[in-house]
Amino acid sequence: MNLGPRLLSVAKFVPKGSVVADIGTDHAYLPISLVENKIVDKAFACDIHAGPYQVAQKTILAAGVSSQIDVRFGDGITVLSPGEVDVLTIAGMGGALMVDILSKCPRVTADLKGVVLQPMNGAALLRSWLYQNGWKIDEEDLVFDEGRLYEVMHAVHGHTAMPEDILMEIGPMLWQSHHTLLRQHIENLLFQSKRVLTGMASSEQAKQSEKYSFVLEKIKELEARMQCL
Ligand SMILES: C[S@@+](CC[C@H](N)C(=O)[O-])C[C@H]1O[C@@H](n2cnc3c(N)ncnc32)[C@H](O)[C@@H]1O
Repeated sequence: MNLGPRLLSVAKFVPKGSVVADIGTDHAYLPISLVENKIVDKAFACDIHAGPYQVAQKTILAAGVSSQIDVRFGDGITVLSPGEVDVLTIAGMGGALMVDILSKCPRVTADLKGVVLQPMNGAALLRSWLYQNGWKIDEEDLVFDEGRLYEVMHAVHGHTAMPEDILMEIGPMLWQSHHTLLRQHIENLLFQSKRVLTGMASSEQAKQSEKYSFVLEKIKELEARMQCL
């Protein structure tokens, strides 16, 4: 199973020898690749929808790895028992949905050694939730795949000082490591924020709102960070 750059970046955060559950697995490409490449011996491929669940079963069967990958049907980590897995991978969905999934079963998340998350949006919300709920991000990556830049983060249990708000947007470890794609990433964040501001600028009421001030401040801080690169 050949993964694209996005899922390869997620895979590289999975420690060798761990038991992994891929939540929202769809075709199960990620757990199949992890097993085929002998990164893990045992994996769970989990999905809430019948279509992807059935496709995952078929793909796993065709790849000849059914004895090593358990396919589970249901919502997020509710399909797992405490202590059953070491690591979760959750990729290709929004940050808010990831927060919902991670919040649902504290008895399952308590036993985890790490989580690998690749949000399609809402990364700042996800990072804030992690820091407020006993997690800290220890590594992050940026990867280009088919012309789009993706954020990937690895978090472990632990308490640490809450990063500044602007680093929740950028990614504290991306900033700390001076990631090679950091400039493009901040340019993207600036582009998105400026688009939101332009959309609001035609309404006097919107310009008086807290959201407008928040976005304006975010743009100033992102521009200041760009000057430091
Ligand atoms: C866009 S696909 C991403 C597939 C794969 N993880 C990837 O990154 O390429 C999102 C998948 O998440 C599943 N999903 C959405 N909400 C879920 C939930 N609460 N629990 C489990 N799976 C979920 C969907 O059915 C879908 O198969």
